[in-house]
Amino acid sequence: MTLDTNGQTSTFGPDRLTLTSLLTAEDLRRSLTEDARAGLSASPKWLPPKYFYDERGSELFEEITRLPEYYPTRTERALLTEHAREIAEIADAEVLLELGSGSSEKTRLLLDALTQAGRLTTYVPVDVSASALTQAMDALAEERPELVLNGVVADFDQHLGQLPAPGRRLIALLGSTLGNYDRPGRERFLRSVAEAMRPGEGLLLGLDLVKDPGQLVAAYDDAAGVTAEFNLNALHVLNRSLRADFDPDGFRHLARWNTDEERIEMRLVAQSPTRVELRELDVTIDFEKGEELLTELSCKFRRSSAARELAAAGFRDARWWTAPDEAYALVLAKR
Ligand code: SAH
Ligand code: TRP
Repeated sequence: MTLDTNGQTSTFGPDRLTLTSLLTAEDLRRSLTEDARAGLSASPKWLPPKYFYDERGSELFEEITRLPEYYPTRTERALLTEHAREIAEIADAEVLLELGSGSSEKTRLLLDALTQAGRLTTYVPVDVSASALTQAMDALAEERPELVLNGVVADFDQHLGQLPAPGRRLIALLGSTLGNYDRPGRERFLRSVAEAMRPGEGLLLGLDLVKDPGQLVAAYDDAAGVTAEFNLNALHVLNRSLRADFDPDGFRHLARWNTDEERIEMRLVAQSPTRVELRELDVTIDFEKGEELLTELSCKFRRSSAARELAAAGFRDARWWTAPDEAYALVLAKR
């Protein structure tokens, strides 16, 4: 499957397989331009994380999910293996819509359980990464000929109101992706998700929980250096999309636990005084030696505060499933 990025709906073959783009490569480049202009001229410098996920970035993220230090993926998979049937019964959904679906690998557990519960017709994977989405859809189309697949390339910061609802939905956000927002960002995001949902529809979140900082830092700074490469890939994206001249070898990956905010902060640290030209923006950015660029947050959750945030956004009847070692949780709430 290939995606034609003219911004309009592209339908491939029979209706059971559609791929829609609400976000063209050009849209993405334009928002990167705005974000880079704002973030790189701020102090401290920052970049929003969605630009990690070009084709190489999506591949590197898949590698992260298989690292021995990166427990979230396998813990979430174990929770889904154990509880998907109960989740499916409570959700009672005809449609599984997944935000930030990536490879849709763990999603198969939910698809199986929802199919067995008897009402599932449609899977709607939504991702900003066209390459990850088309790969996942190719595989699923072959594995599940009975399932309607409506993939959408979209930015869930912009397009929640335009996503399909061909029946009663379960909306899933796995991989602790919610933690990549800070608290005000989460509040905004959860409210707009609630706004886009009908009463009775379900929201399933995978949430990484507060734990020993040593274990957390290792999960974001693995021995094989895959996370470092993932972080540095953001500079390759800037070089390519904004005709910039970052030297990725001149920056070092740093993952730091912020005790007060209870979050991992991912940074790139300039190893020497560095001047970078962003030709597309017609700007020059200077880094001092040791200066940090904030590239990603990964907030860790406590059940009590996460429950309050969900209630404040308009969700009710939250059900929790927590891993035996309390490393990670799934929560299902209703609109
Ligand atoms: N759900 C998968 C992947 C998590 S990684 C898992 O649990 O393993 C986060 C995913 O969200 C990536 O595939 C990335 O491309 C996507 N993503 C990040 N920001 C996004 C945004 N603003 N809109 C849509 N997708 C986004
Ligand atoms: N949602 C994932 C997380 O916070 C994303 C992620 C994993 C990530 N490893 C990363 C983002 C490294 C940036 C850098 O765990």
